[in-house]
Amino acid sequence: MAARSSSGDASAVNLMQTLFPGARLIVAANRAPYRRATGLHGEPRWERPAGGLTAALDPLMQRFGGVWVAAQAGAEQELAVPPEDPRYQVEVLGIAPEVYRAYYSGYCNAGLWPLCHNLVERAHFRPSDWIAYRQVNRLFAERIAQVANADDIVFLHDYQLAMVPGYLRGLGHTGPIAHFWHIPWPPTVVLRLLPERRLILQGLLEADWLGFQTEDSVDAFVSAARKELGARILREADGIRLLYQGRVTRLAAVPISIDAARVEEIARAPLTEDRIVKLRSRLGLQDSALLLGVDRLDYTKGIPARLDGFSRLLVRYPSLHGKVQFLQIGVPTRTEIQDYRRLASAVRRRVQDINRRHGRPGWRPVRLVERNLRLDQLVALYRLADVAVVSSLYDGLNLVAKEYVAARVDGGGALCLSETAGAYQELRDAFPLSPLSPERVAEGLARALFSSSEERERRMKALRAAVARNTIDTWLSRVLQGLRSAAPQLSGENATPV
Ligand code: G6P
Repeated sequence: MAARSSSGDASAVNLMQTLFPGARLIVAANRAPYRRATGLHGEPRWERPAGGLTAALDPLMQRFGGVWVAAQAGAEQELAVPPEDPRYQVEVLGIAPEVYRAYYSGYCNAGLWPLCHNLVERAHFRPSDWIAYRQVNRLFAERIAQVANADDIVFLHDYQLAMVPGYLRGLGHTGPIAHFWHIPWPPTVVLRLLPERRLILQGLLEADWLGFQTEDSVDAFVSAARKELGARILREADGIRLLYQGRVTRLAAVPISIDAARVEEIARAPLTEDRIVKLRSRLGLQDSALLLGVDRLDYTKGIPARLDGFSRLLVRYPSLHGKVQFLQIGVPTRTEIQDYRRLASAVRRRVQDINRRHGRPGWRPVRLVERNLRLDQLVALYRLADVAVVSSLYDGLNLVAKEYVAARVDGGGALCLSETAGAYQELRDAFPLSPLSPERVAEGLARALFSSSEERERRMKALRAAVARNTIDTWLSRVLQGLRSAAPQLSGENATPV
């Protein structure tokens, strides 16, 4: 696989210069790309999340300048980054804690998040949370309007900021706006449970370009805009546009990706080889296979059914006893929400039950590690894992699946991937998993574990080619091209209504 780096003279950087000369990037996302934190001994230090989004946007912002607007509960922060050689500005809006709670733990994560993942019984839409959501979105829009020129690209992210495009236009901003929706867009019958759906659709349709992870999400959005707002669909050779109240918005399915070159570089580093040797001995893997799950402890990830599936596998195949281990990395997340705390307890209970039921001296079938690991630590685990298990019930994309594939520079390993994760659309050579029932999960795991080495190699080769075709740099280039062709001056007159 010859993945291209997102740094240096990567193509998105060149495209930005050609398509938007003189523009800066004004990014808004709930989370900041850098954080000032305090070390163990009270010393100030910087944290830099290794996420795909930061990996993609940081090089462009460093080259062309710009502002990244984020939010947090408490005090406002202004940071010039990267700390060692400041090139752009991070402005973290300080939100009153009770407002932030209603916005983040309420409307965003107890409302939109479960609804968009079709887990309707978990979704709550309280009027007071909606007020806070609008308030925070308005603050984002006001700050963006202050810092953005009409030539700059405003690039908004995800379900936390659905009202920002509309508010920005209301404030008189005329420049290009792109909004990328990272999670699934739900079918219209599900969306109708959202009391404010029309306002949210209207808000989003003030953007010039709207991106989604899958064609399913684009179709669902188009259907909702048509049925709920009466928006007109314009189909053109280069994709779909929606015409609503005189504004044309271009839609695209552009699955996000990872900095594959960076993952490969780490996977080949001598330090990783050392780590692999140490981990193999520490986990006692000389004579047994490793199954690996890496997820935030989120109920959309299907972790309980996955563990139950592993338990079934052990019941069905006694020959695997002592010969296989499951390592689940569970990153704590959104712990102020009860559903998340309950999920974490349920996962812990299952791990204990499985170990009590199947374990014996010298063999612990499941280990749960509840913390965030750095990318270099994860890559060593990816290299070690015979099977990576991604069994989300529903997932916008799932970058772990892509990271695992990119890390397998040795061509080994097997990916078991839920067919309902967005990534499955690109990674169809994975071993498919049906995530809801433990019996089906057990079947999927058995299929991967007992497959021939030829089959595993063939699948991994195809998966690696798929990841190399669409890296984070490709993703960003597509966003820039999409936004350019959706320039505000386009009236849609040449398009054919259907
Ligand atoms: C998903 C969402 C992101 C979010 C991330 C972590 O990937 O699409 O918008 O930032 O989860 O969740 P958190 O609530 O910790 O930001």
